[in-house]
Amino acid sequence: ENSVDQQHFDTLIADDSRIEPRDWMPEAYRKTLTRQVSQHAHSEIIGMQPEANWITRAPSLKRKAILMAKVQDEAGHGLYLYSAAETLGTPREVLNQQLLSGKAKYSSIFNYPARTWADMGAIGWLVDGAAICNQVPLCRASYGPYGRAMVRICKEESFHQRQGWEILYELSHGSEEQKQMAQDAVNRTYGPALQMFGPPDADSPNSQQSMEWNIKRFSNDELRQRFVDMIVPQAEALGLTLPDADLKWNEERGHYDYGQLDWDEFMSVIKGSGPCNVQRMQRRRKAHHDGAWVREAAEAYAKRQMQAAAQ
Ligand code: 3HC
Repeated sequence: ENSVDQQHFDTLIADDSRIEPRDWMPEAYRKTLTRQVSQHAHSEIIGMQPEANWITRAPSLKRKAILMAKVQDEAGHGLYLYSAAETLGTPREVLNQQLLSGKAKYSSIFNYPARTWADMGAIGWLVDGAAICNQVPLCRASYGPYGRAMVRICKEESFHQRQGWEILYELSHGSEEQKQMAQDAVNRTYGPALQMFGPPDADSPNSQQSMEWNIKRFSNDELRQRFVDMIVPQAEALGLTLPDADLKWNEERGHYDYGQLDWDEFMSVIKGSGPCNVQRMQRRRKAHHDGAWVREAAEAYAKRQMQAAAQ
């Protein structure tokens, strides 16, 4: 029975078809998707914090409204992705506990501080830009609920990137001090943004299997390269420089060469000792605790609804 199911699954993957929640799937496929989709959701939820800190300090009402909309979008992306992850059989409370207990990962980039308003621009342009490069191929992930969630998320992500670019453009064409603030934010964000794509392919234990299962369509290094090729001309248009002396066009490769990234720092950040890991998790745990009454109220209401319906 298992071999027939396995053959059917293998045929679906070979035909580049979708795997849906009720289809038979290898437990390892279920497990790696639950891992990736839930950690993607955790990234969206934690990713709200650096930007939320700047909502009350936005320089204008227009910027404040845009930033609020962006943070709300990220909350929504998180909820989509938890819903997609739940279709694989793990309840949301369990996924959430994995985050709160420190067991589950979330994107390394959010363990860096957002020091100035210009960071809102660097996050939008670089972090959401990297997220787009990573998420567009995920729209074609073999697991149906994940790919479909990505389509909606990618549409909103391009608005996120655009508003970030505009913030940096305004600052880099403002006073000398504003231009410096924008350059400083890009200097601090560039390296960690390139690391969002994951470790080098040679050090990526999940990539091989994820690519065979059409979850990951391109390798970490391929997407990182695509991102670098995209932001070099954008940085020129911004009038800002990327902090990488080894960045230069390689005619032979048809891509930009770029410098070594600090993978020791990366490993220490994803192991919990980045600049902001402690405060991000404290904030998340407090928010979960403070939100308990909402969950209790919703459960009490749902129970009453069911009792009423049962009468
Ligand atoms: N931050 C934290 N952990 C990372 C990481 C990163 N940037 N890159 C890799 N890792 C972890 C992996 O999760 C894996 O650990 P695990 O097995 O315990 O999960 C380990 O490092 C080895 O990495 P692999 O390359 O083998 O792992 P993957 O094949 O899963 O590739 C990935 C990593 C490219 C991040 C992939 O999981 C992926 O594409 N995830 C979905 C995209 C995502 O999470 N994006 C978050 C961006 S933030 C965001 O979208 C918010 C924005 O809107 C502001």
